[in-house]
Amino acid sequence: MRTAVISDIHGNLEALTQVFKDIEKLRIEAVICLGDCVGYGPQPEEVVREIRDRRIPFILGNHELGLVDSSYLTWFNPPTRSSLRITRKLLSADSLVYFKSLPPVWIERGSRFVHGFPPNSITTYLYEVPDEEILRILKALPERLCFIGHTHDLQLIAALGDRLTYLPFKRGIQPLRPEAKYLINVGSVGQPRDGNNQAKYVIWDDQADTLRLRYVTYNIVKTAEKILGLDFPEHNARRLF
Ligand SMILES: [Fe+2]
Repeated sequence: MRTAVISDIHGNLEALTQVFKDIEKLRIEAVICLGDCVGYGPQPEEVVREIRDRRIPFILGNHELGLVDSSYLTWFNPPTRSSLRITRKLLSADSLVYFKSLPPVWIERGSRFVHGFPPNSITTYLYEVPDEEILRILKALPERLCFIGHTHDLQLIAALGDRLTYLPFKRGIQPLRPEAKYLINVGSVGQPRDGNNQAKYVIWDDQADTLRLRYVTYNIVKTAEKILGLDFPEHNARRLF
């Protein structure tokens, strides 16, 4: 079965719409969302609706957490906090209640899905964790693959024996080694920070034992105009290009 793993949409409906078109064109059977559907971008409510209407498993991201737990707001820098204040006004009461039900971890067909870092961190960034710790945690996980988001960057890390290897994560199909464990950072749909401005997502094929990294073009200007029209920090629009 092929599963599209999407993350960090951040209210960018233009990007999400094009990603769904790509997923449909490739006839992908399932989708899992690693959280941060909201924050920074202009259409959080529409994005949450799309995910819910399609009954896509939605894992709690730090931006959803910031909206349901005010004690957590201090964790964010001031521009992000002001983005979350605007985001809150754009969300329905129903969506805010729904966020309280989101799981921090999802396990499916022997793989783990979490927003930040395994086993279950919503807030830890991959780049904060030393290699020895990544290796230790991957080896201790019962699952062979763990998918993460949060950094908006792409990363494919293999643990084999006592070695951790950072593999090149290029677009296209990537075969996996059955004896290795993997940490897969799927990038961001709505606000990529991997040096390329296209939306990214990953297709996991558990039968073929492969990953496939997809780059998807969308109308960045349109999203940027919507962001500026809503008085979000200008940086939220500029960083998309
Ligand atoms: Fe994010």
